[in-house]
Amino acid sequence: MIEETLYQEKYRPQFHFTAKKNWLNDPNGLIYYDGEYHLFFQHNPSGINWGNMTWGHAVSTDVVHWEQFSHAIEPDELGTIFSGSGVVDWNNTTGFQTGQESVLVAIYTSAGEFAPKETPYTQSIAYSVDRGRTWTKYEGNSVLSNLAKGNRDPKVFWHKPTKKWVMALYLENNDFALFGSPDLKSWTKLSDVHLPDASECPDLFELPVDADQNRTKWVFWGANGRHFIGTFDGEHFDAESDVLQTEHGANCYAAQTWSDIPSSDNRRLQIAWMSGGKYPDMPFNQQMAFPCELTLRTTADGIRLFRKPVKEIETIHKRRHTWNDEKLTPAANLLDGIEGELLDIRAEIELGDAKAVGFGVRGENIHFDIDSQRLACLEKSASLQPINERISLQILVDRTSIEVFGNDGRVSMCSCFLPDMADRSLKIFASGGTACIVSLDVYELHSAWSP
Ligand code: FRU
Repeated sequence: MIEETLYQEKYRPQFHFTAKKNWLNDPNGLIYYDGEYHLFFQHNPSGINWGNMTWGHAVSTDVVHWEQFSHAIEPDELGTIFSGSGVVDWNNTTGFQTGQESVLVAIYTSAGEFAPKETPYTQSIAYSVDRGRTWTKYEGNSVLSNLAKGNRDPKVFWHKPTKKWVMALYLENNDFALFGSPDLKSWTKLSDVHLPDASECPDLFELPVDADQNRTKWVFWGANGRHFIGTFDGEHFDAESDVLQTEHGANCYAAQTWSDIPSSDNRRLQIAWMSGGKYPDMPFNQQMAFPCELTLRTTADGIRLFRKPVKEIETIHKRRHTWNDEKLTPAANLLDGIEGELLDIRAEIELGDAKAVGFGVRGENIHFDIDSQRLACLEKSASLQPINERISLQILVDRTSIEVFGNDGRVSMCSCFLPDMADRSLKIFASGGTACIVSLDVYELHSAWSP
């Protein structure tokens, strides 16, 4: 048998990040520095299933095309290397800087349970003076001792108003805590955060509301996407919302946002692990979701977090098929003849007197039911309220995933699937009446792995 070429295997996602081989889970250490986005990831360098946790590493200039580098941080006597974050130490608060380049610092959990000699879970740091190419562990590790049995997943950022580093850390149950530090090496506890029904991989970040830089709120986020919107004064996070959720798909987990995106760009970019996908007989296991931009916008329900694919998806747009003002009837299928493998579909649909509208992708339905106002895809559903009797949908289809974004990111649903390879069918439908396609663009996509 001829060996399948790397990145061209049958079930290899073509525009979602996967490790060349073996197991991957959470995104870690997301840093932007000098034109490069760094994506570290929970990785088993030597097995197709979870274990031997190490930070794998990939670099991109556009968050779409990735090059995998050698593994960055490997297990040691303090434990295996669990999830964490990364920052640029612009002011050399650590004193690690040796030359012109600012130092990149990774803050991670030493999972003592898996150390050669079992020890508690603690937090450690490592740094790079060469743009992330090589990493040195701090000789004084750990930098934060054990506070709760499996405490883990430090997410760190520089808090400008109080001139200190802040760490959000998962403790246990639904409890998290915040810590402060002048130098990333010594940490003191600031406060506690309780996020019901959430655990692991916290994130805490500030966003303008409705793009107004003078009016900001903070988001406190847990691994399953549950989050609060509130305020943060450098010590305490105070929730001003109920527990909210934007992402409702089957597989999105442990999302993290990038640190140090320059103010000239100012976007809050996030990537998630698509936990639990199936990749039979593949050299790799698990994939990332497509990177998203997060924004806060005022809705009829209050301020909500919106999540939509980054505009850099356009770097892989290939052929565009476009329609405007077309009747959508139960009989017609406008998309007959377009091959449904790698797609970015964008539609605005006026619901008319239809009972349901949607798309069929390789035998799976993305279905909006008008009476119940629910959007469904791959066994999951979410409430989506039409605006002026219209809904908008963006759908990213890759070989093993479908990601649906309703009403410009008000709702997102990221799910894995394992399609029948022979079925490349694509359809758009209305049932029970006639709807109207205000606009529809279907972009066929290039593989992000092709040169
Ligand atoms: C989340 C998680 C983290 C942990 C890591 C281990 O998926 O359980 O809490 O650090 O994975 O791989």
